[in-house]
Amino acid sequence: MPTRDFIQLHDLRFVPLISETDIQARVGELGKILTEQYAGKNPLFISILSGAFVFAADLMRAFDSDCEVGFVKLSSYSGTRSSGDVQTVMGLEKNLKDRHIIIVEDIVDTGRTLHFFINHLRAMEPASICTVTFLRKPDAMEFPVEVDHVGFDIDNRFVVGYGLDYDDLGRNLPGLYQLSPESS
Ligand code: IMP
Repeated sequence: MPTRDFIQLHDLRFVPLISETDIQARVGELGKILTEQYAGKNPLFISILSGAFVFAADLMRAFDSDCEVGFVKLSSYSGTRSSGDVQTVMGLEKNLKDRHIIIVEDIVDTGRTLHFFINHLRAMEPASICTVTFLRKPDAMEFPVEVDHVGFDIDNRFVVGYGLDYDDLGRNLPGLYQLSPESS
């Protein structure tokens, strides 16, 4: 799909930030790194819904060995601002003890979600935990959280596309768009 000059979602306008081509190239690199790290270990990719489902689908297909996938739904966002609490809306049914876990996140903003989820997983005694995020906003970080692999570091501006939404719209965009300066 060609990159559009701008995208209008509800009341806000978004402009291109990272193209579909650049995203796919970076996801391919991350898949290769994870394959080198985890081939033969049957890792379990845990995708944090809803935002990470697109990234997780591409990342898994760039992983060249046996692997499994599971999904959790956590929630701390409403509109363009973080609401504060993290809640587990939908949990995992798999036994995680002694498994190699790769947490797949769409974006580390304040770090609250990942911080909460890593602590939650540690209690289940996995063999190892690795964190991979498509995006990170270093300037927004409030919670100390270690991310092993980052697709792209971006400015502290609201973004949509490649799984990320603004009030439910924009997840299907294959490229990434950021809030236009005119809209903020
Ligand atoms: P946290 O602040 O790191 O806990 O981020 C929580 C969640 O907020 C992320 O997993 C995203 O789903 C959502 N989020 C944070 N920043 C953005 C953004 O710029 N666009 C869309 N969703 C975002």
